[in-house]
Amino acid sequence: MKKILVTGSLGQIGSELTLHLRDKYGADAVVASDLKDGKGSPLAEGGPFETIDVMDAKMMAEVVAKHKIDTIIHLAALLSAVGEKNPSLAWNINMNGLVNALEVAKEYNCKFFTPSSIGAFGPSSPKDNTPQDTIQRPGTMYGVTKVAGELLCDYYFKRFGVDTRGVRFPGLISYTTPPGGGTTDYAVDIYYEAIKKKAYTSFIAEGTYMDMMYMPDALNAVSTLMEADPAKLIHRNAFNVTAMSFEPSQIAAEIKKHIPEFKMEYDVDPVRQAIADSWPNSIDATCAKEEWGFKAQYDLASMTTDMLEKLREKLA
Ligand code: NAD
Ligand code: SER
Repeated sequence: MKKILVTGSLGQIGSELTLHLRDKYGADAVVASDLKDGKGSPLAEGGPFETIDVMDAKMMAEVVAKHKIDTIIHLAALLSAVGEKNPSLAWNINMNGLVNALEVAKEYNCKFFTPSSIGAFGPSSPKDNTPQDTIQRPGTMYGVTKVAGELLCDYYFKRFGVDTRGVRFPGLISYTTPPGGGTTDYAVDIYYEAIKKKAYTSFIAEGTYMDMMYMPDALNAVSTLMEADPAKLIHRNAFNVTAMSFEPSQIAAEIKKHIPEFKMEYDVDPVRQAIADSWPNSIDATCAKEEWGFKAQYDLASMTTDMLEKLREKLA
């Protein structure tokens, strides 16, 4: 991984993953890119930045050739709730963008990473400790594109030898860039509102368990998987990874330990609740642990302490 291109780098994951990779491999070794221009963003100020629409394969190929890219981290996609508002756009960006990126990786012999999601599971998947290999019949367009994307990445490895790798991320919690319209966003919003208003109205119902992970663990998961010995990777793509599983009243209780006046109310959004109900309560990350040593550092308590501390500084 001498020269890395990150697509969708201005999003929740990319804005931190680009900096994480620049810390590890050097500022000039990581080219940030997004559909939006990077003006004023620390990514454009701290290293190379290119505007790329992933729907334009030629544009992507030109940047890859220009910077002699050997690794593509493909993040540009629409998330679950936004995808349900505009399913055909979600199909277009998530699938055609991915095919374009895989084609460029094939042509320029690049290593390739793209994330799948807990959204690749559906109501007929086992709900608890969902296995790595199991039934996947998701009910959202987001999930449909994620399952198809997992299969495509396997296909490009087997058929063309592209070194594809990936994980199924759970809901990611972070303080740098707000999430882009997912079902798990409540678990980020709650921290902002706890500091600003000492109260939060959750759009996800009490008792709804979903897997989650703090961003530092997600960043480490990407770099560890990309550096893993390929001979040990049985699955390669779509590894289940998780750090914790909780439901809204548990995160509220954890916040209350720091902000005793904090109040939680519920005003459930039927669309996002239906998505959450179709996802696992918890997934099994044994394959990621065994095949490339995945390990999360943060649990709900340590994440909450850090999130509140960092957000207090940010919002001060
Ligand atoms: P995000 O919505 O925060 O960011 C996506 C970025 O892609 C945005 O900056 C957007 O401008 C860019 N983009 C959109 N259309 C584009 C196009 N046509 N060309 C180039 N860029 C375009 O998303 P994220 O949370 O950073 O997610 C990144 C990836 O990780 C996605 O594949 C997502 O499905 C996956 N994922 C995220 C989570 C999570 O909790 N954040 C969980 C599981 C999987
Ligand atoms: N956080 C993402 C979403 O809710 C999970 O893929 O869409």
